[in-house]
Amino acid sequence: MVMTNVRRKHVLCVVVAVFISWNAIMYYVLMSRHARKKIPSDVELDNLDFGIQNQLRRNLELLSKLRSLRNETGLGMKSDRTQHVAPPGPSGDDNVVLPILMIACDRVTVSRSLDLLIKYRTSKERFPIIVSQDCNHKLTSDVIQKYIASDNVQKHIKHPNQTDIPLNKKDKKFLGYYKIARHYKWALDQIFLKFNYSTAIIVEDDLDISPDFFEYFAATHRILTSDPSVWCVSAWNDNGKNGMVSDEPELLYRSDFFPGLGWMLERKTWLEIGPKWPITFWDDWMRHQDQRKDRVCIRPEICRTSTFGKKGVSKGLYFDKHLKHIKLNDQFVAFTKKNLSYLMKENYDPWFKHMVYDTPEVTVAEVMSGSKKHLKALRVTYTTKEQYKSTAKKLGIMDDFKAGVPRVAYRGVVSFVYKGQRIYFAPKSDWQKYDIKWT
Ligand SMILES: *[C@@H]1O[C@H](CO)[C@@H](O)[C@H](O)[C@H]1NC(C)=O
Ligand SMILES: *[C@@H]1O[C@H](CO)[C@@H](O)[C@H](O)[C@H]1NC(C)=O
Ligand SMILES: *[C@@H]1O[C@H](CO)[C@@H](O)[C@H](O)[C@H]1NC(C)=O
Repeated sequence: MVMTNVRRKHVLCVVVAVFISWNAIMYYVLMSRHARKKIPSDVELDNLDFGIQNQLRRNLELLSKLRSLRNETGLGMKSDRTQHVAPPGPSGDDNVVLPILMIACDRVTVSRSLDLLIKYRTSKERFPIIVSQDCNHKLTSDVIQKYIASDNVQKHIKHPNQTDIPLNKKDKKFLGYYKIARHYKWALDQIFLKFNYSTAIIVEDDLDISPDFFEYFAATHRILTSDPSVWCVSAWNDNGKNGMVSDEPELLYRSDFFPGLGWMLERKTWLEIGPKWPITFWDDWMRHQDQRKDRVCIRPEICRTSTFGKKGVSKGLYFDKHLKHIKLNDQFVAFTKKNLSYLMKENYDPWFKHMVYDTPEVTVAEVMSGSKKHLKALRVTYTTKEQYKSTAKKLGIMDDFKAGVPRVAYRGVVSFVYKGQRIYFAPKSDWQKYDIKWT
């Protein structure tokens, strides 16, 4: 990148301006000390205070101008390592506005999720937070309003349709799921049809996030928009429990399974699926081939979200058994500086097939006994649904299917870590497609 002389001069001028302002402050401060000896009047002190505050504000403005100038020119990255330039190609940061849609209802602990989002986001212009609230819950509404007052949350919208949903007796226990689906439909219509955003990141009110949550979505946005076979990016790995992931926070995958739990969607996909949105169980509906149409999500090895909400509609037992064991990533990966184009289908598929099927095949007993511990990775084969389930149970991974797809799978392959060793739990190499009868 070439810096013109004009730019350089501009930057220099700003630096000088900051320096002069700093001296001005020091002058004020010294004068005020000096003045104290003469016991100044309240009015004098107030004036001085006002002057200092003003100067401080001007300095801060100058500083932020300087920062944005530096970012614009790339001077910050260049400074002393001129050669180190971020790779081009379909990763990187394309600066599109990525609103966070927070789905809330009646949990005042929404503040815990909001606090983390606010802590880790780098810009409220780039990542505005929009809370959509269902349930008419006054206490929760009051909590959200505090964030509006401090301008940390940019919009608080409320689902207007609070009418009862008529259900027959056997569906009554699923009322919560019906309400959630109805709320999602309305909220996503607001985001994409009313506010007209091109992309959104959807979270719920019981999620913790990792420090690189925004970085992850900012970097993968380019993959989402440039690879038509990718229809979502998710922060979630269904097998991402402690001890079942490697220490490779930069590792990402393609997944045929829609994970949800912190995910990014494009308006063009909403325009396609929004009009036929289901009245309940929206996530399983999305996993159905009628909607998915062979498209995939990007997902991380180590989760970028974890859930603390035991008291949700679908939680309880499931929370104790699975969700609370999820490992939340705690390291910052500079994804926008990485070349993520390996995730594009044409790059990924040949590489992935080689990686999996060049890995030595062993039995599940050999995995469990540790007799192949000297090998870096192992492959275990399954051919039937029953075999999948029983082996999954033995190895401690999720054993269920949705629309024939095992959780986390890509081309039938489930990748995870067992006692420190990488395992590919895979169908035969001539695999063609999922069998929707596997449930
Ligand atoms: C409100 O929800 C009910 C039940 O889901 C639905 O039948 C009705 O059309 C909705 N009203 C509006 C204004 O969308
Ligand atoms: C929404 O944004 C797109 C560009 O992303 C634009 O083409 C379209 O006209 C906008 N629609 C409305 C209703 O503003
Ligand atoms: C990014 O990675 C792809 C392969 O995944 C490669 O073809 C491309 O040359 C790389 N780009 C850069 C700038 O390194």
